[in-house]
Amino acid sequence: MAVDAENVGNVKRQLAKLFEVSLPATVPSETDIVPLVDACIVKSGVRFGDYQCNNAMGIWSKIRGEETEFRGPAAVGQAIMNNLPPSDMVESCSVAGPGFVNVVLSRNWIAQSLIKMLIDGIDTWAPRLPIKRAVVDFSSPNIAKEMHVGHLRSTIIGDTFARMLEFSHVEVLRRNHVGDWGTQFGMLIEFLFEKFPNPEDVKEAAIGDLQTFYKASKVRFDSDPEFKHRAQQAVVRLQGGEDKYHKAWKQICEISRTEFHRVYERLGVKLEEKGESFYNPYIPGVLEELNKKGMIEDNEGARVIFVPGIKIPLIVVKSDGGYNYASTDLAALRYRINEEKAEWIIYLTDVGQQQHFDMLFKAAKRAGWLPADDGSYPKATHVGFGLVLGEDGKRFRTRSSEVVRLADLLDEAKNRSKTALLERDTAKEWPEEEVEKTSQAVGYGAVKYADLKNNKLTNYTFNFDQMLNDKGNTAVYLLYAHARICSIIRKSGKDIEEVKRNAKMALDHEDERALGLHLVQFSEVVEEACINLLPNVLCEYLYNLSEIFTKKFYSNCQVVGSAEESSRLLLCEATATVMRKCFHLLGIEPVYKI
Ligand code: ARG
Repeated sequence: MAVDAENVGNVKRQLAKLFEVSLPATVPSETDIVPLVDACIVKSGVRFGDYQCNNAMGIWSKIRGEETEFRGPAAVGQAIMNNLPPSDMVESCSVAGPGFVNVVLSRNWIAQSLIKMLIDGIDTWAPRLPIKRAVVDFSSPNIAKEMHVGHLRSTIIGDTFARMLEFSHVEVLRRNHVGDWGTQFGMLIEFLFEKFPNPEDVKEAAIGDLQTFYKASKVRFDSDPEFKHRAQQAVVRLQGGEDKYHKAWKQICEISRTEFHRVYERLGVKLEEKGESFYNPYIPGVLEELNKKGMIEDNEGARVIFVPGIKIPLIVVKSDGGYNYASTDLAALRYRINEEKAEWIIYLTDVGQQQHFDMLFKAAKRAGWLPADDGSYPKATHVGFGLVLGEDGKRFRTRSSEVVRLADLLDEAKNRSKTALLERDTAKEWPEEEVEKTSQAVGYGAVKYADLKNNKLTNYTFNFDQMLNDKGNTAVYLLYAHARICSIIRKSGKDIEEVKRNAKMALDHEDERALGLHLVQFSEVVEEACINLLPNVLCEYLYNLSEIFTKKFYSNCQVVGSAEESSRLLLCEATATVMRKCFHLLGIEPVYKI
């Protein structure tokens, strides 16, 4: 099937097209009016329509005083409505207040859209973005340090960005910008040589926990000046490319990598590593280019770049002549724009790094790598997220105030959801494998959802009891709601593919219509979540969907055994399909049975 060049699933855009005809017909003197169409919000229980066009007031303020046939914004609204071309999307229109044009969608059109989606697949509802390729720089832990709960946020949110962009037909380079370079490696390598004079003995098991290894080497570094000196020499020899040092560095990286990989595997997250060391060879050339552009100056022995609006400079060569985090990021950004031809480059770290990225992007604009205007492509965006807090309101730590290990946290989420699952009568009979699979999906899903549903900027409190509650806005509630819909379909004994081919859908009951309307809004919501990088918008949509299904539709409309059975089964199937797509975009594995 040929893919349409535009997204036919986006109701807002389809309606805007009607207004694109009506607006110039209403005010021929104003040529480039962009239709302002939005879904209607329910105000004190009343809703005048499903969508509204909000152009009348703006137009009125432009044309008043001129010679015009209109006597006020309401009259402009009336004319906009009268000039709408006929469309099978629209059931009725009305004008409210100062010219808002309210549109009620046709029930039949909503039903047809749902059937079409069920037959052609939900990918036909994917957003379209004006770009082909993006880089998402996420997770990016540091070698030899434990991947902790802060990296978890970056990993989970970044994966969802990548998934939303991929769904929107954008090729995504999922970049793990690991911290695999820097002065700490001198210390680690020297310590490695001391502990394992024979390189053959270095194995993951031998080094054991890299974090402990890191700490021990740091103690040694701080207490023995002779060791410290050797460590500093080691950095020079490593950077000079000496074989023995390079090998040791690679061994250490490899052990970390294996550890990181285990976590990614469990979370179902794909990443491609291009660590800091990858960009090393590019740094001198990039700095040379910036120097020629007159951007680099001396400052207290260091080489720096000043950017507009910020007093402190971006240090690109340290006073000891070494490169740093910023020089690496400059080289990486240039590489991503010029070599990889990425049109949107998205970085995910905690908000603490906001100023670093602000300066980086401003430097890139000064260099002419990025356009000055933030609205156009290529563009770079830093998404900063808040801290993960414990229930005491402080940074999330274990009782012995250690950094919480990600692996332990995932184990606990899974074990708790397993215990809860086994308390249900139904699950007691399940084969062990199924219990495992379900408790994993629910446990990991809960951790991810708790993170994604928050506005990413705010700090968030990590609380197992809350995230694993089967009531309220949690993954557990949502996954079970999905499973319940699947069981309704199973209970009907009907072959849903068969029903799809033959049935008609009618949305005569108010609650059927409300559910159908929410379903056709999926596409515009994903588009908004994707363009503005707001996974919480998608979470809210999903939660509302399951509320409308459960509290309205399923409470008031009998499905199995009713006269409307086929039609309602299709509505169930459409709901389950949209829910599964939401789960997919949020990186959550659906469950079909509870
Ligand atoms: N390794 C860094 C950290 O853990 C994050 C790197 C983010 N990406 C980047 N291109 N700077 O803090």
